[in-house]
Amino acid sequence: MKTRKARVQAVGRPPAFAYRDGELHCERTALSALAKKFGTPLYLYSQNTIRERYRTFDEAFRGVPHTICYSVKANSNLSLLKMLAGMGCGFDVVSGGELLRVLKAAGGAPSFRPGLAEGGRSAKKVVFSGVGKTADELDLALKSEILMFNVESEQELALLGARATELKREARIALRVNPDVAARTHPYISTGLHKHKFGVPMQVARAIYAAASYHPWLDVAGISVHIGSQITDVKPFGEAMERVADLVRDLRGDGHHVRYVDAGGGLGINYEHGDLSEFPNLAGKYAKLVTNALRGLDVHLLLEPGRSIVGPAGALVTRVLYNKRNNGKRFVVVDAAMNDLIRPALYGAYHEIVPVVEPEASKSETCDVVGPICETGDFFARDRKLPCVSDGDLLAILDAGAYGMSISSNYNTRGRAAEVLVDGKKAKLVRKRESFEDMVRNETV
Ligand code: LLP
Repeated sequence: MKTRKARVQAVGRPPAFAYRDGELHCERTALSALAKKFGTPLYLYSQNTIRERYRTFDEAFRGVPHTICYSVKANSNLSLLKMLAGMGCGFDVVSGGELLRVLKAAGGAPSFRPGLAEGGRSAKKVVFSGVGKTADELDLALKSEILMFNVESEQELALLGARATELKREARIALRVNPDVAARTHPYISTGLHKHKFGVPMQVARAIYAAASYHPWLDVAGISVHIGSQITDVKPFGEAMERVADLVRDLRGDGHHVRYVDAGGGLGINYEHGDLSEFPNLAGKYAKLVTNALRGLDVHLLLEPGRSIVGPAGALVTRVLYNKRNNGKRFVVVDAAMNDLIRPALYGAYHEIVPVVEPEASKSETCDVVGPICETGDFFARDRKLPCVSDGDLLAILDAGAYGMSISSNYNTRGRAAEVLVDGKKAKLVRKRESFEDMVRNETV
């Protein structure tokens, strides 16, 4: 059984999770103490890891004018958003709800000047993506004076033009183009091929831009692209950017004032072996490919990372309920389930699972780690060699900071987990565990 001990010590800077004196810690705080205080299942996030990863990502693009617009969908906890906004981060939102979260969490930060918009707040560093924006959502974004609308269809453009006219607010737009580049990732999260629902084909983009440029309330400002998520081979990012760069030149030739390129998100993390040491290197390679393709174009680059900022900073802590055997197969039944972390069930995703008490390497056994939900797909690991654990022991499911809590649900009427943000020896509850009353609040009998 490999643990993160060697890796973490080798890196020698504030790690998110490491064994100290035989016990797993988040920063300087023991997981067992947090589990005792807040209960399980419990999401933990290392504040300093998020900060450090944000800085690493930002630093990788230091040579060019850029704004990082953290992708809120990866983890939308208000405290995380506030912390990132405080560091100068902008946001990529895909719904009115996400925009309201950003305004609530970050409305007071210097980059979000309060009180500018009618009854609301200005969101100068927010981009709005998504294939199905509603009129209400567009109105909210227009009133919030967001940086840019990443428009995904001619139909959406027409609606945005109509809403902008009605509200007398100018909308800066980028068309999300589909570069037809294959990114090697899970088919559910690959988005940049012509068969996918996202964006508009490159070939028709010029005509749509031309139409938009005649609209008095639409400002043709940029181009956006997003080819998929959990992409660890960075080459496709470069290919997509080369195509976008050609389009920038074409559009400028057509007379458009293109100032922004939004490169989307998608940079992956190493779920199998942890990526504390690899990240600066990978982010550097990624930045080089993206910026090289745009060299000489004098554009302001927007980036929408989600997972790469928060993924490795989070873990889901769960307690072993039962060790059971069926026909010789060992099942470790834990108190977390697919409603808390759906990635293994949905994508067959791998998450490293480690005991909170540092195990002795010799005693391990092959098992399935499963949750209590009535579905065979409710598992966190299958046929995984894990140290022997007893009923009542704690396990940590690592790299769960992105697309964990944000996709959680109440399936099987299970209240959502609590979330705790750890800063050194301090731990702050940033979301209370959901009660039964919380779950049924909007229902009638
Ligand atoms: N920008 C756009 C337009 C996106 O659609 C996404 C993610 C991102 C940025 C952020 O991508 P990231 O840097 O996090 O890869 N639930 C899946 C991932 C879905 C990603 C959806 N879009 C998972 O758990 O792997």
